[in-house]
Amino acid sequence: MKLVYQQLLALLSMIAVVLVLLGLSFSSMTKEYVYQNTWTSLEKYANSLVEQSVRVSSSNPQHVSFDSESLLNSEVLLRNQSVNFTIYNRENTAIFPDNVYISRIKETDWQKLQQGKVVQNVADHQTHATGGQVEPAMTDIIKPYFYTDDNHQKHLVAVVKVGAYVSNINSNIAKINANLTKALLVASFVAMLLAFLIARYLTLRIDRIRRATNQIANGNYNVQVPSKNRDEVDDLANDFNNMARSLQESKIEIQRQEERRKEFMADAAHEMRTPLTTINGLLEGLAYDAIPEESKAQSIDLMRNETKRLIRLVNENLDYEKIRNNQISLNQQQFNAIDTLNRMAEQLAQKAAAKSDHISVQGGSDIEVYADYDRFVQIMFNITQNAIQFTENGQIVILAQRGYQETIFKISDTGIGMTKKQLANIWERFYKADPSRTNTKYGESGLGLAIVHQLVLLHNGKIEVTSKPNQGTTFTIIFPDKKPAK
Ligand SMILES: Nc1ncnc2c1ncn2[C@@H]1O[C@H](COP(=O)(O)OP(=O)(O)OP(=O)(O)O)[C@@H](O)[C@H]1O
Ligand SMILES: [Mg+2]
Repeated sequence: MKLVYQQLLALLSMIAVVLVLLGLSFSSMTKEYVYQNTWTSLEKYANSLVEQSVRVSSSNPQHVSFDSESLLNSEVLLRNQSVNFTIYNRENTAIFPDNVYISRIKETDWQKLQQGKVVQNVADHQTHATGGQVEPAMTDIIKPYFYTDDNHQKHLVAVVKVGAYVSNINSNIAKINANLTKALLVASFVAMLLAFLIARYLTLRIDRIRRATNQIANGNYNVQVPSKNRDEVDDLANDFNNMARSLQESKIEIQRQEERRKEFMADAAHEMRTPLTTINGLLEGLAYDAIPEESKAQSIDLMRNETKRLIRLVNENLDYEKIRNNQISLNQQQFNAIDTLNRMAEQLAQKAAAKSDHISVQGGSDIEVYADYDRFVQIMFNITQNAIQFTENGQIVILAQRGYQETIFKISDTGIGMTKKQLANIWERFYKADPSRTNTKYGESGLGLAIVHQLVLLHNGKIEVTSKPNQGTTFTIIFPDKKPAK
């Protein structure tokens, strides 16, 4: 069954129970109310009848006289209002109206009357036959009247029985009940309408979430369900929105990774093609004996170099991927940076000399750095090697200095420099500012700075570069100190 009908059913059954209970209690209340009202007015009739027509002689209270003329008048008057009455004397004999068929008051009732109690009958079932006629059911009250003499003695003087037709009362009750039924019908209609609206409102909101779920199933993660943070349905909408958002985020991340993978494959293929083509050419030359004997040793050397370059390319790529995926752990420690840099400069001296570059390390002798030793050397080595690579007859200065809770290194050269556009891309893998600069002697692949960048980030450090074409380049690398334990 649809949710809207389930809710409707629940609400309607509740309303039905309430209405039935209300209806029952109201109708029994009205019945009682109408009877009470009738009895009160009947009692008033009885009082005025006695007042007008019963005379008690003060000298002899046993002597009671009834004014029959006034009784006759009253009878006509009351009959018009569908009320009739009977008056009994203290011997339980009906003395008005003058009708022999009128039965005496029941003994049990008579005893109550003698005690001064008023007897009320809901419906008089005696429906006695008078002259062969069947009288309709009546409700009546029977009230005794007493005379109190000078000695405070009470004497029963008369008993009046006043009755009204039950049919009259019932028609009153029916009228009230009809009104009540109308009100209940209107109320239940309004309640039904309200119940339907509430149920519909709820299901509409659930429907909205369902439609959004369908969109997600169809691959559209860019959906949000409105929520006002009011109830459980809104909570559900919030959870749904969170889910959609993280799905969208992972979709973007997957796309980005896919993009990166494609780029990498294309670049790597491109990088490997050159050495492989060289090796292939040389091998074919050797196979067909197209290479003169004296050049063979050189060809083999060239092939060895190209193979080494391929191996380096593969290794560096693996290294880069490892750093990016946080798969390498740093063994950070405090050590003297100047000593390390001096050793490195010595190693590179030959390369620098080949380019007629002068290389120098500057800064105090006791400048320390907090880093992974091998990775630190890798970073500095790469940048200095680049400086030598792109500088001829120039100066290469490696400067170390202490900053606030950090060690700063500046590696500057007076080489060919880079334009702003070239600068913007140097951290990217396989980027070479100017492909014509490639110098196979160094076997460059455009991976050096990409790895350097990742390594510096891994140290929580910073790397910046400034450069001007034909003037030179300066790399600034900052290593933060060890954070004091809290
Ligand atoms: N000191 C510099 N002066 C001028 N250009 C530079 C300098 N350092 C880097 N570049 C430019 O940035 C590019 C990227 O440098 P990177 O070190 O990443 O690659 P590479 O040196 O070409 O190859 P690899 O270091 O992988 O062997 C270089 O090709 C070069 O064009
Ligand atoms: Mg390089």
